[in-house]
Amino acid sequence: MHKAEEILNDLEIEFSTELDKAITNLKDTLSLDQSKLEFNNVKVKYFSKNSALFAILKDLKNIPDINERKKIGEKANKLRVKLTEKLSSSEKAFTLKILESQLKTEKIDPTRPGIKVSTNPHQHLISSTIGRIEDIFTSMGFKVRNSFEVDNEYNNFDALNIAANHPARDNWDTLWLSDGNLMVTHTSSMQNRILAQDNSLIKEIIIGKCFRNEATDARHEHTFHQLEGVYLAKKATMGDMLGVLLEFFEKYFERKLKYKFTPDFFPFVEPGAMLSIECVICDGKGCKVCKFSGYLEVLGCGMIHPKVIANAGKNPKEYSGFAWGIGIERLALLNNDINDIRYFYSNNLRFINQFN
Ligand code: PHE
Repeated sequence: MHKAEEILNDLEIEFSTELDKAITNLKDTLSLDQSKLEFNNVKVKYFSKNSALFAILKDLKNIPDINERKKIGEKANKLRVKLTEKLSSSEKAFTLKILESQLKTEKIDPTRPGIKVSTNPHQHLISSTIGRIEDIFTSMGFKVRNSFEVDNEYNNFDALNIAANHPARDNWDTLWLSDGNLMVTHTSSMQNRILAQDNSLIKEIIIGKCFRNEATDARHEHTFHQLEGVYLAKKATMGDMLGVLLEFFEKYFERKLKYKFTPDFFPFVEPGAMLSIECVICDGKGCKVCKFSGYLEVLGCGMIHPKVIANAGKNPKEYSGFAWGIGIERLALLNNDINDIRYFYSNNLRFINQFN
């Protein structure tokens, strides 16, 4: 018998044995990936260009005896068809077996008791801080609302008297969206909507997420929360503003506080101010947190700019008001002796579970 014929005779049996082995090996204990690999190896071994069968077909032209060449050629081609058929039916069986095994090992039993994820469920420190802020302001008669996270350029900038090419825009590094809208950079983005309400007395706080396109460090995050206050009346004074803000801080920090007003600039208030309170870490003695000044700058505020009132469709000669903005993370940091803002969103349970 020609050598090629012998090889062909053995090939069929070898192929069937190896293929069956790959399929029966697919037990729950053997990883699916491993079985897939074994199956694939068989496929490559018998059907690739380097396979024995392919070599015989390629070599046919070198068999000198025409009858022998014909005989081996026919046999090799028949075998190729047979192996291909066997492979495709085995592939189906193989896929079914994988599915069965997945159903067995990956099934979900909804009647099993749940796994306890925490023995200590509680609010995140930011949520509980927001809750306290809301309680204090609602006790003073303020309405609470949330800010939008995505808004348009008009509400975030133009309505607030921040012109397109004004350098002040650089103070709010903005994340722009491809449709021309933006991720709000401050909760002041809600002022125009609030001031436009048909009310002669407006007392509202706005709480929400803000986003800035800036590098993070111990004091800056790209995502953070702000508390905004908006007060509009027929007559409002800076004295009223100071009264509201001090009342809030003394309730929040649960103590009497010294304070300082210093001039500051925001395009949407005139005059604008920075409110500083006595350092709550060192009680005004001077420490690293207050940079040894005894005071902490806590918020930007001021009398609402007449243009902002006019942009909301109200007459600035008839109405006056004040607004302020505070970082909520900063309030939580100061009240809990935390030295890095990045902890808040680190999802570190050792951090989170300290505040319940
Ligand atoms: N929106 C200002 C900021 O993000 C804060 C602010 C609000 C200042 C309202 C004055 C009045 O920095």
